Amino acid sequence: MSQPQAAANPLRLRGVSKAYRTTGETTPVLRDLDLDLRRGEIACLVGASGSGKSTLISVIAGLLRPDSGSVFIDGNDVSDLSDSQRAHLRATKVGLVLQSGNLVPFLTAAENVALVTRLAGIEVSSAHVVSLLEQVGLADRADHLPRRLSGGEAQRVALAIALANAPDVLLADEAVGQLDSSTAKVVLGAIERACEERGLAVLLVTHSDEIAALGSRTLRLDNGRLQIAA
Ligand SMILES: Nc1ncnc2c1ncn2[C@@H]1O[C@H](COP(=O)(O)OP(=O)(O)O)[C@@H](O)[C@H]1O
Ligand SMILES: [Mg+2]
Repeated sequence: MSQPQAAANPLRLRGVSKAYRTTGETTPVLRDLDLDLRRGEIACLVGASGSGKSTLISVIAGLLRPDSGSVFIDGNDVSDLSDSQRAHLRATKVGLVLQSGNLVPFLTAAENVALVTRLAGIEVSSAHVVSLLEQVGLADRADHLPRRLSGGEAQRVALAIALANAPDVLLADEAVGQLDSSTAKVVLGAIERACEERGLAVLLVTHSDEIAALGSRTLRLDNGRLQIAA
């Protein structure tokens, strides 16, 4: 296993390629991608539907293996790790927010945060759960069931869960796109605050130009390659 570098960028990709193979056909999706994300940076990732944004997020999160190239999280080359080491790295250093919140319907907001965090192997006190919900502006919703939360509130609970392991890299795949723009701004504000306070590196997939404009920079995935969007 390579030694982590002390001051490494939280996220580094080098020459990452990925293709899907179905019967008799190979579809290249990511072609030789390089990327560096610094602490405290929000990079927005845009691109047409099917351009490979979710594939890239899955590769970074260690849910999919790249065919070639390396993903470094805090200087650790993820491909050098065993499955259990990779799972540990993901559980301790990466936060993931997906499109549909994914809350357990019969547990309150606070119970959802506590459960998912414990499933990731991290013990959280109830005070910590409250502070996580406070950070996303939901202290007063702690005892609400998901059906009593608005879409934006549910997404902020998902964000609180993603932040519970104090990750260095936060990945958000279309986590705000389906929200109306004022709600999206509230969720984004919570992401921005976490980014600033914790020095997180954030990669935020969005199809909204308005949201992309709020990031530090915008990258476009086009024909398998990453380009700096104008
Ligand atoms: N599990 C899979 N098997 C085969 N092809 C896939 C799979 N997942 C995604 N694809 C294909 O890979 C391409 C990129 O998909 P995806 O990463 O989901 O794009 P995006 O998130 O930008 O919409 C699409 O053409 C999609 O159909
Ligand atoms: Mg997608």
